[in-house]
Order: sequence, then structure tokens, then C-alpha cells
Amino acid sequence: MNGQVTLRLEPLGRTIEVTRGASLRLALQECGVEFPCGGRGRCGRCRIRQVDGFLDGGGDQVEILSARELAQGWRLACRCTVECDVTLEVGQWETVILGDQSAFAFEPRDGLGIAVDLGTTTIVAQLVDLRSGRVLAVSTAVNPHAVHGADVMTRIDRALAGARVAMTSELRESVGGLCSRLFDPQSPHARMSLERVVIAGNTLMHHLFCGIDPGPLAQAPFEPREGGLQSFRADELGWCFGPHAVVSFLPCIGGFVGSDVLCGIAATGMARRSSPAVLIDLGTNGEIVVGDSERLLCTSTAAGPAFEGGRIGMGMRATTGAISEVVVERGRIRVRVIGNSVARGICGSGLVDAVAAGLELGLIDPSGRLAGGKSLRLAPGVELTQHDIRQLQLAKGAIAAGVRTLTARSGSDASRSTTTYLAGAFGNYVNRDAARRIGLIDTPETLIEPVGNSALLGAKMALFDIDSGLQAFDALRSRIEYVPLAADLDFQQGYLRALNFPDRHCDQGRSR
Ligand code: FES
Repeated sequence: MNGQVTLRLEPLGRTIEVTRGASLRLALQECGVEFPCGGRGRCGRCRIRQVDGFLDGGGDQVEILSARELAQGWRLACRCTVECDVTLEVGQWETVILGDQSAFAFEPRDGLGIAVDLGTTTIVAQLVDLRSGRVLAVSTAVNPHAVHGADVMTRIDRALAGARVAMTSELRESVGGLCSRLFDPQSPHARMSLERVVIAGNTLMHHLFCGIDPGPLAQAPFEPREGGLQSFRADELGWCFGPHAVVSFLPCIGGFVGSDVLCGIAATGMARRSSPAVLIDLGTNGEIVVGDSERLLCTSTAAGPAFEGGRIGMGMRATTGAISEVVVERGRIRVRVIGNSVARGICGSGLVDAVAAGLELGLIDPSGRLAGGKSLRLAPGVELTQHDIRQLQLAKGAIAAGVRTLTARSGSDASRSTTTYLAGAFGNYVNRDAARRIGLIDTPETLIEPVGNSALLGAKMALFDIDSGLQAFDALRSRIEYVPLAADLDFQQGYLRALNFPDRHCDQGRSR
């Protein structure tokens, strides 16, 4: 049987044609996948997962892969041939997905619950023992719609072009599959009952998952059609595990501020603080909350996806091959690449670092202009262009101006130092000093606190609040004032002022 078959590679969304019966190793080598032990089936570093279709492979894989991994579809690429069309998840390209292991207060109860952070790019689910609060298993995946574009507007356009019902099915299938992977039939908890699943996500994820028309999110005033709590029985969603479990998608705050931010407010405890704090969630969009126990204001800025590597010439997610750190050593640029592999591009934290380093070395001036030449070379084959720097300026200007506008609106003393919580993967990995150097944040470094996946932590807290009808979350939500910034004059003026980079670094230099 000759002919061509199609290999679809996730999470990059790349498709290649190969001859039926071809060696998977040879096909993937051309796409930059590495085979550290030379394809001898010894190192296990060439893992790929069959997402759709089947691979032919040698039985010696059982020596490297566990029974559970094999059941989940993991294979060693170097031992397989391609006989039919297949979709593969390439382990080496795994996106860094933040889980959460934070301690929190709760009232114990029987059974199991699953907390899900349904992000625009990635999804993470944790199985929680509701008696002990312990996380029993974690499962992660790339959002099935990430291949269609990083920004939410692309997704809305696609939904409005007739794909909405299919997108709802794809999301439900993906989250359901992720949840079912949390149950190992051999584990002791497999016999416990699943009581509830709580999902947090932005407003678009809420609408798409719940089967609500996202049309109103595409036009002013960008209000959600039905932003409240949505609940389903697991079997209604076609999930065959825990068929009677209740699946709840937490309520949104506003047009582009979803329950992921509500969860972040709950997780940081900022609503109980006597002094004001700022919460910034930098993902595909930039959401900002400013406030304390008296008042809470929130907004979403169209910061764009630059902090996730989007719209950057050589931008990429924080996966293997991404430059994630840039430092100045003895007057020269040095980079760190995720997976210690050859640099293929740059992710958000690397971008902030690279521009901070360029400013430090005088290769970029405060207006953002590249001082010498058309690009800033970071590693062989990877460079930043003038366009990339402008994208970062637009993104960081929107966030900085958003924080200042909300702070002024809240009546807080803007000169007073406040704690700034940074949520999400970018917030966790960004160099705080570099973030200050480019003017993204002006909080003193000691008051910047990465809070990891606060959406997931908040969703876990909500697992214990469901019995009360989510009273605590509802009360919190009713206190939050949504401030639209698009037509706000103060924001627009502040935005223009915030585009330039600060003249000088106010801390000691970051060279080492
Ligand atoms: S390359 Fe080492 S196991 Fe495949």
C-alpha cells in the first residue's frame, strides 16, 4: 500500500505529508525534533502521543514507557512507522503549563472534585480529594483551538463564521478527555465518587464551553450574553466518568474579564486587604484588578499576545527551543533556551529580558528605536526586529496605563507602594527586574509577587463553595466594578505616555 499520509503535529499545528510506511524518526527529524540516544529506544526523550490515528511501533517501548503512558497513547517516535493519517502531540514541544500546589483553607467533605483552568492556550485539570484538599493527579493539554490563533478575536470570528457548535463540542471533548485522564483505574481513588467539576476561564471560553453565542463579545459594549454561573450534569456533556457529577463554569465579571480573574482575586485574598494591591494577569489579553477590602476595580486591556510570543517575528510559546532568559554578561548578551536545545525562537519572558538587555547595552533607545542596525541578534538564527520591539511597547504601554488609570479611579494614593500580584505562566517566569526596566511595572521589586496559576487555585477553592451555591464567589463578584478603558480619555493619554521605555534603570544594573 503506497501513497502519502498526513502527520499533524501539536502543539505547533504543523502538518506534513510523508510516504506511507515511512520512519517517524526521519519525518520528525526534519521538523527539528531531537533523538538524543540516536533513536536506539533508550532515552525516552523522543516521546510523542497519538492524539488521533495509530502508529505502528516496536514492542520494546514497554521497557521505557509505563503501562499508563502507553494507555494514554504515548510512544517513542524512534520506534514507530507511519501507516495512516495521524495527529501527534510532540513531547519535546510541550508548553510549560502551570499547575498549583498552594495550601488554602477549606471545610472538608466526602468525595472527589476536579478543578479546571480552561485557558485560551492551555488547559490544566487537578483531581482533588475533598476530605483532605490534597491534589491526587494533574492533567494538562493545549486548548484544541490554539492552532487557529492565539488571540480571542480570531476565535470569535471563527465561531461567528459558523463553527460555534463544533467549537463547543471540541472544548467539551477536550476538557472531558483531560478529566478522564485523571483517573487511573488501578489507583485507590478510582473507587471514590466524583462529586463536582469546577471550571474557570475567560468570558469567551465560558461562552464557547457553555454553548452561548459569543457574538456580543465582538461589538461594543462587549458585554457577555449570559455571564452567570452555568451548570451541567457530566452525562449531558457526553462525559462517561462521574456521570452524575455537576460541572459548573464559574461566572464572568465583564466582557473580557472572566472567572479566571475572579478566581485570582479569591486566591490572592486581595479583597480582604486593608491596603490596596494590584493583580495583573498577562496572557493572551491583559486583565488588571486594583483594590482592597473597600473597593475593587477591574478591566481588560487589549495588550495583545506579545507576552505569549504572539505577533513577534520569532515569537513562540514557552516550549522547548524558546529563549526564555536573556542576560548581559561582561557587556555581551547571553541566552537560556528551554530544554537546553538549539534556539528556535523567543517566548514572552525572553522578549522582556531581551529588550531590557538591549536598553542596558544602549542597543535600544528609550523611544524603542534600534540604535544600530535593523535587528538585535540573540542567538544563531534568532533575532528581534524593530517591529517586535514596537509590539512589546504597545503591550506594556497598555498594561502600565491600565494600572495607573484604575489606581487613580480607585482613589488610592498612587505614590504609595502597593503589592503587585503577577498571575499566570508569564507572571511566574518573567524577570521582575527586567519587567521594571522596560516600564511594565513600577512597583518596587520586593513588592512584586508571582502567584502562579491563581485561576486554578480559585477554582479549587470554589469546589468547596459549591454547596452554598457559590455564596462567597457571588458576594465577591458583586463587589467588583468593571471599568471599560477603550474610550477612556485618561487611559488613552496615559497609554501614549507609557509607550516609551524608562530612561534609566532605578535599581542597580542587572549585568552579571
Ligand atoms: S531517541 Fe532515545 S528513545 Fe527515541
